[in-house]
Amino acid sequence: MDSGVMSQGASPLVDDRVAEGVFRVDRAVYTDPAIFEREMDSIFARCWVFLCHDSQVAAHGDYFWTEIGRQPVFVHRQKNGSLKCFINACSHRAAVLTPFRQGNAKTLTCRFHGWTYRCDGACIGIKNEEEGTDRSRYDLREIARLDSYRGFVFGCLDADVMPLRDWLGAARSWIDLLAVQSPDGLEVVPGSSTYAVDGNWKLQAENSVDGYHVSTVHRVFANTIAARESKGEYTGIRRTESGRLASALVPSAQYDLGNGHMAIWAQHMTPEVRPIWEAKERLAQDLRPVELDWILNRGRNLYLFPNVMLMDNPSTQIRIVKPLAADRADVTVYCIAPKGESDRARAGRLRKFEDFYLTSGMATSDDIAALESTHEGAGAVDAKWNDFNRGMDEVTEGADEDARRLGFEPAASAANWDHEIIYHGFYRQWQRMLNGDAQE
Ligand code: FES
Ligand SMILES: [Fe+2]
Repeated sequence: MDSGVMSQGASPLVDDRVAEGVFRVDRAVYTDPAIFEREMDSIFARCWVFLCHDSQVAAHGDYFWTEIGRQPVFVHRQKNGSLKCFINACSHRAAVLTPFRQGNAKTLTCRFHGWTYRCDGACIGIKNEEEGTDRSRYDLREIARLDSYRGFVFGCLDADVMPLRDWLGAARSWIDLLAVQSPDGLEVVPGSSTYAVDGNWKLQAENSVDGYHVSTVHRVFANTIAARESKGEYTGIRRTESGRLASALVPSAQYDLGNGHMAIWAQHMTPEVRPIWEAKERLAQDLRPVELDWILNRGRNLYLFPNVMLMDNPSTQIRIVKPLAADRADVTVYCIAPKGESDRARAGRLRKFEDFYLTSGMATSDDIAALESTHEGAGAVDAKWNDFNRGMDEVTEGADEDARRLGFEPAASAANWDHEIIYHGFYRQWQRMLNGDAQE
């Protein structure tokens, strides 16, 4: 047995003693290759993994190639409008079948020896076919489960997984706040950016809902924005809501949403510069005032265990983390937007997206530097604990007043995005799944 598995028995990887004021995580969870292998089998192969958004596979024949853990899969839009998801490996000798990450093909022909598959996965052509061949033996392998919520498509390799709606649980309310922003739904804006991080995938997960780092790691961004705007060069919708970036003094909160899902929000001090502001009268007709308040006035980051983050801050983003090794992850970002917004709002949304979220922007590069530094430091086995204690004494079990008013039921709430109690839920879920127990 490998050292990582052995060490778990002797000393827990997650030291969960909240009653004694301790919640800490062994830094080996970031660095141990044996733990990473177990994560692939016990987590990524067992739970719902985000695949793509409906709008990325809108038409018959549209395909989207992604991964569940390290297994290549592709989602394919069927003639009848439904979706199927297949293992992206030719039944012959495993060549990936989709020529691009995303495209349209009503049949797929393997580039290696030319076998052909229909959109529904049926093998319909074998080059120089031998007499008596039973082609149906070579139909593509569908993944065990495929489902979507509000246009967000998830897949699971384990047929026994709980229903997607139950898995998302309290996080559904947070997805709803995005999905209701247009009567026509959301669309992923064409284009994406993928960057490699020399760090563990869980550091990216933590970072996406880490309010505590914002005023330090993104100070340069905040100062640059403030200087830019003070010169009068960026006005109107081109302004960025930077209040939350400079200090922790704006109202904020964080939620352990259960099943490892986490969320934070912080008040926007200049909500009128957000692209969605133009829709406020229309939204007010359809939504409850509390929903409108959350959409317009609160910048929100949602992390869905294990691989996707949905952000609605100055811009709107899907961020997918793809684990490659204990010390390596790919991250891909897409801008997602309400269909039918004005050109002005869309342009503002894209410029803000470029400013903050793209690697060529002014914030994500600082995040990457912080994550890579953290990963490097996690190699310090002689000081092996990462500390997640902030806010432990102020945690509210279950819903706080804000959550109750909106109508979701978190496992725990904290009235400050500086706190770290959400990571307790994350690492408890992580530990449960690593132990082979997918559901509570
Ligand atoms: S690997 Fe696809 S046809 Fe041979
Ligand atoms: Fe950040």
